[in-house]
Amino acid sequence: MRGLPNSIQARDVEYVLHPVTNARKHEEIGPIVIDRGEGIYVYDDQGNRYLEALAGLWSVAVGFGEKRLVEAAARQMAKLPYYHTFSHKTNEPSVLLAERLVKMTPDRLKRAFFTNSGSEANDSAIKMVWYYNNARGLHQKKKFISRTNAYHGITLASGSLTGLPANQRDFDLPFVPVRHVTCPHHYRFAEPGESEEAFADRLAAELEAVILEEGPETVAAFIGEPLMGAGGVLPPPATYWDKIQAVCRKYDVLIVADEVINGFGRLGTMFACDYYGIDPDIMVLSKQITSSYQPLAAVMISQELYDGIADNSRKIGTFGHGFTASGHPVPAAVALENLDIIEENNLVENARRVGEVMQVELRKLAGHPLVGEVRGVGLIAAVELVADKATKAKFDPIGKVGAHVFSRAHENGLIIRAIGDVIAFCPPLIINEEQVHDMVKRFKLTLDETAQELLNRDVASM
Ligand SMILES: Cc1ncc(COP(=O)(O)O)c(C=O)c1O
Repeated sequence: MRGLPNSIQARDVEYVLHPVTNARKHEEIGPIVIDRGEGIYVYDDQGNRYLEALAGLWSVAVGFGEKRLVEAAARQMAKLPYYHTFSHKTNEPSVLLAERLVKMTPDRLKRAFFTNSGSEANDSAIKMVWYYNNARGLHQKKKFISRTNAYHGITLASGSLTGLPANQRDFDLPFVPVRHVTCPHHYRFAEPGESEEAFADRLAAELEAVILEEGPETVAAFIGEPLMGAGGVLPPPATYWDKIQAVCRKYDVLIVADEVINGFGRLGTMFACDYYGIDPDIMVLSKQITSSYQPLAAVMISQELYDGIADNSRKIGTFGHGFTASGHPVPAAVALENLDIIEENNLVENARRVGEVMQVELRKLAGHPLVGEVRGVGLIAAVELVADKATKAKFDPIGKVGAHVFSRAHENGLIIRAIGDVIAFCPPLIINEEQVHDMVKRFKLTLDETAQELLNRDVASM
């Protein structure tokens, strides 16, 4: 393990259980201590600089070290460091943020409900849908439909919607009634010769068949990330969302758009719903809402949902759902300042323009011997590594090469994300063209070094 006795590394290994980490491997290799950040870079406690090509966890839109956000938090802390929004209390920042989000998001969405995290927001969405359907007298209509490879969080309910085995195995999930339909990844799941449109037709038909099999009177909602993130950065095939929405509307199945990664400019439009023409009943927002400087998420709901919930709360006496920090004034103030920065600096347009450069540059790696597919939109992309380009065969075992690329990239001053053998890119929205070229150069070097090593080592020993 790196680090002297009593160092932060050693004390981390001694005292911390890390999320989404192999705990025994962590004891062997120890942590990298990230000490500070500036723009698109973070620095470890040894002074090494890394280009943060995943913006932390897909989230630091305005980059690290943004003083305006620090000052916004300090101003709000000094004035009102905390208050809740239960039982008819409110505070100015949370109201201004709710108003701003309602005006920014698709027209159908009229109210905001605040939580601390994306997982809690998705749990809240599930509970709201159930509460609403009970209020409508549709007591059986409770099931959710999600997709394989979806990521919607890790709490009992949101973790049930997630469709990734590593997040469910040995946690006894799924815990709420959910069916997972095929994820819309053309490269992996289309039939040979099947066009994107035909693939989308088949997926819409699959969704309809699942609704009919379960009984439409039992299916409450379909949840999807417009462009799937943590499952491998999967842009849907052409016409997919039009066809999925038509099936949902036919059977009174609500549409929940999980924009936790996509929202606030990632695809080069303010929301991915704008990009794909999705008109959701519920939209879930987090991450770039505060650039993750403060924990915050929002569930945006339609007038119909709001009215159903409001009427039921009168009947019962309360809408008995909420968190100590729902509408916390400090994250709300930071979100407002963060949205100002995104707008004033045209970061959504930057994501579109510089994103195009990133897509072009990464696609130049398509001919690399380790690369099966390069995909993405705006400032989010993935490079899928394969053992055999012609057959698309995966490495065996899966994930060893990806993990190797992940560690090796650090030595080349680059932080990326390895999802199995898929390498994800999602840099801060402030990245410029020159920095994109530098990022891709560092990644190509890492790939070349890995290809060279694979000539002399088998995958299992990586
Ligand atoms: C699409 C999506 N939904 C929900 C979540 C869960 O958010 P959190 O980690 O804040 O609970 C994530 C986290 O990465 C996500 O990517």
